[in-house]
Formats: sequence, C-alpha cells, structure tokens
Amino acid sequence: MGALRLLITGSNGLLGQKMVAMCLVHRMDFAAISSGPNRNPDCPDSNYTALDITREQEVLTYLDSHNFTHIVHTAAMTNVDACELNAALCNEINYLASKRLFEIAQKKGCHFTLLSTDFVFDGHQGNYIETDMPNPLSVYGRSKWMAEQELIQSAYSKWAIARTIIVYGKGHQLNKSNIFSWLMQELTQGKEVSLITDHFRAPTWAEDLAEGCLSIVRHDASGIFHLSGPETLSIYEIGLRVARYLGVSERLIKPINSKNLNQPAPRPAMTGFNLEKSASILGYKPHSIEETLEYL
Ligand SMILES: NC(=O)c1ccc[n+]([C@@H]2O[C@H](COP(=O)([O-])OP(=O)(O)OC[C@H]3O[C@@H](n4cnc5c(N)ncnc54)[C@H](OP(=O)(O)O)[C@@H]3O)[C@@H](O)[C@H]2O)c1
Repeated sequence: MGALRLLITGSNGLLGQKMVAMCLVHRMDFAAISSGPNRNPDCPDSNYTALDITREQEVLTYLDSHNFTHIVHTAAMTNVDACELNAALCNEINYLASKRLFEIAQKKGCHFTLLSTDFVFDGHQGNYIETDMPNPLSVYGRSKWMAEQELIQSAYSKWAIARTIIVYGKGHQLNKSNIFSWLMQELTQGKEVSLITDHFRAPTWAEDLAEGCLSIVRHDASGIFHLSGPETLSIYEIGLRVARYLGVSERLIKPINSKNLNQPAPRPAMTGFNLEKSASILGYKPHSIEETLEYL
C-alpha cells in the first residue's frame, strides 16, 4: 500500500474536530469535509471543503478528484429527537448518503469506517458485544442500523463500523452541547439539574474515540468495533460524579424517571459496551470520567 491519505467527514462536529487534531499531531495526510463553512480553527482551510454529503453529484465529483486510502465517516444527523420528527431527512443523511459514500469507497478500493451508535440496540441487555443482535427503537437508531447493514452484507472487506455512546469533550462552535459540558456549566453556577435514574450509558471521551478510529485506520481493521467509555452508569450517577468532582452539593442533582421527559424518540434503557475486542485488536484503552473532566 502507498502512503495513507485520510478523508474525515463531519470535521465541524465533535469527533471530526478531534480526528483533525490527531491527524495534525501525527502529521497524517488528510482532507476534511463538513456541510457548512469551516468552523474548526484547528483545521487549515487548505485541507477543508464545504460539502453536503446528501449532494450526490458533488460528492462523486469531489471523491473522483481525490485519491483517499481511508474514509472515516463521522458526519451524521445526530439529534435523536430531530431525527424522530424528520425521518426523511434523517434517512437521507444517515442512511442514503452513507450508503453512497460506501459505494464510492468500494469502487476506489478505499477503506471505509462508519460511525454508529449504541442506539442500534433495544437496551434490554446492556454490556453489548459486537455480535449482539441490533433492534433499534428510534428513527435515528434504524437509520444507523440500515447504514451498518450495507457494509455488513457487502462482499467488500475493507470496512469497519465504530459504534460509540454519548460522546463528550470540548470543541469549537459545536452545533450542540454534550452532557458533561452542560453539567459543568449548570453545576458551577449552583443550578439544580434533573437527571434520569433509569437509563444507563458508558459516556465516551471524544479524544479516546478519535484514537480508536485512528487505530482502525492504522490497522486497516475490518469488522464491528465497540468504542465507548470504560464505565456504564445511570445518567443520574453521571451527574453525581460531576458534582463530586466539582465539589458542589450532590443535592443539586434531582433524580427523575425517563417518562417525565416526554422525548419524541424512544431510547434504549441499558446500553454500555464490552470493550474486549477493541482492546485486543486496536489497543483501545479509554480514560475514566475523572481523568477527562479537567479537559472540559
Ligand atoms: N454524540 C454522541 O453522543 C454520539 C453517540 C453515538 C454515536 N455517535 C455518532 O458519532 C458520530 C460523530 O458524532 P459527533 O458527536 O461528532 O456529532 P456532531 O458533533 O453532531 O457532528 C456531526 C457533524 O456532521 C456534519 N453533518 C451533518 N449533516 C451533514 C451533511 N448533510 N453533510 C456534511 N456534513 C454533515 C455536521 O457538520 P456541520 O456542523 O458542518 O453541519 C456536524 O458537525 C456520528 O456519526 C454520530 O451518529 C455520536
């Protein structure tokens, strides 16, 4: 194989920004695309192209004029409730555009990594391994599962699926806040927060996830990989951990039930991943929550 040349989709997003930063640190040859103007000050404009992945012809023209060896596809419609309320757009971005990108990658002999989610599972079991059977509950989860199946069922072998869970970290001009940034902000101002006790997740530091994706690229790894944080906690417990870290009263965290939230999209109760496969093949070793909080 010749020199590695990586395309990062969704470079304005949280994971995309971390992937760009890591490519710069490791002096990797990369290009980045996202739907709007470059909002990531770390990403040199010379590496960036504004490209909406749903614009089929523009995507084809762009990929035809570049020779990438690898694509890490992070771009997605990631607001789960917005997906539930606009299923057509969610399907267009998360399923159809991903499918077309994978088709082009195959034609060009390029390794393709699709970012996916714990929401492909129904949440009855928890501690999921890569071979557990998905059963998505939401439009978002289904759109990702449909994209996954394009890879899983193809005869092409140069693909990987990186499933992750609640990604958090610090970024530039992100289009959404993440649970830790929001908790730190509210709790340091002494505000009360209501957090659900009946949903369990393994929150993932964006830097760890980016390392995991880079390891997939470097190993030309193929198959499904679970890349989450090391610990599965209720959302309420996550709040308590942040309160303890900040040294603020735990009484600011009010326990509630998910039924109180009336969210449009149904969500799996218990996720969390078994990380043994990623540890052994990718050397994936995520940080604990406390190790990451000082960077938020
Ligand atoms: N965040 C989580 O908690 C979580 C959990 C499980 C799985 N994941 C998956 O992990 C991946 C990365 O998540 P993230 O947190 O980095 O998401 P994010 O911050 O929402 O970033 C996604 C990026 O995708 C870009 N994008 C959206 N529609 C696009 C389009 N039509 N054309 C081109 N770019 C488009 C957006 O770029 P612009 O800003 O330029 O529009 C956005 O910045 C996603 O695939 C997500 O589904 C995330």
